[in-house]
Amino acid sequence: MRVIVTNSYEEMSASAARIVAGQIYLKPNSILGLATGSTPEGMYNELIRVHKEVGLDFSQVISFNLDEYIGIKDSDPNSYHYFMNNKFFKHINIKKENIFIPNGNMQNIEQECKKYDALIEQKGGIDLQILGIGNNAHIGFNEPDVKFEAITHKVKLDEETIAANARFFASKDEVPQYAISMGIKTIMRSRRVILLANGKNKAQAIYNALYGPIRPATPASILQLHQDVTVILDKQAATLLPPV
Ligand code: PGA
Repeated sequence: MRVIVTNSYEEMSASAARIVAGQIYLKPNSILGLATGSTPEGMYNELIRVHKEVGLDFSQVISFNLDEYIGIKDSDPNSYHYFMNNKFFKHINIKKENIFIPNGNMQNIEQECKKYDALIEQKGGIDLQILGIGNNAHIGFNEPDVKFEAITHKVKLDEETIAANARFFASKDEVPQYAISMGIKTIMRSRRVILLANGKNKAQAIYNALYGPIRPATPASILQLHQDVTVILDKQAATLLPPV
């Protein structure tokens, strides 16, 4: 595990964007695993800048998003379909047919989950997976006490996650209770992983993930077993880490 501590959110975002851009430059048909949330927004902005100013080419890139709520329309501003399109995809030259996000509006959610993992494998597997982390150390929507063997599946969101995400909704009651998420096994199969975190409220989760015991109560702790993880933090998210 490499840990990079940067001075600010902007530096964290630029550092992550450089790794993603390098991946695409060397392998134009890279398969990216993408995340939503406040954390990766700056990275997406920087990638958009590099696309516009330097010509970073996304025309052969394939993307798979980590998760999506169950039961809200793609056109809902709180859906992850909407987030990805507005914050990233519509600003770059990725092809629509190369974008994959779990569909939380299917009748048969179980089948949708199975299809998602099969599709990732069929395309060749994820080259580089971007992750944020929840205050409860979730990755994707893999909440504490997740099964480490799980692939893409339906999850019931934790009260803590619902409370954290309520800031985007009119009220807490409007936050969906269920979601589809790539499983821990899906994430761990990625060839490379970048874990991003900023802000003081992520410091404990980062400490537990990097230095705590590997256990389902701390979903992100499984990353200690991955052979190629780069953790990129701002100073505040790194406050509990031992000095190097
Ligand atoms: P955030 O969410 O980036 O909005 O803090 C991260 C997460 O819950 O994984």
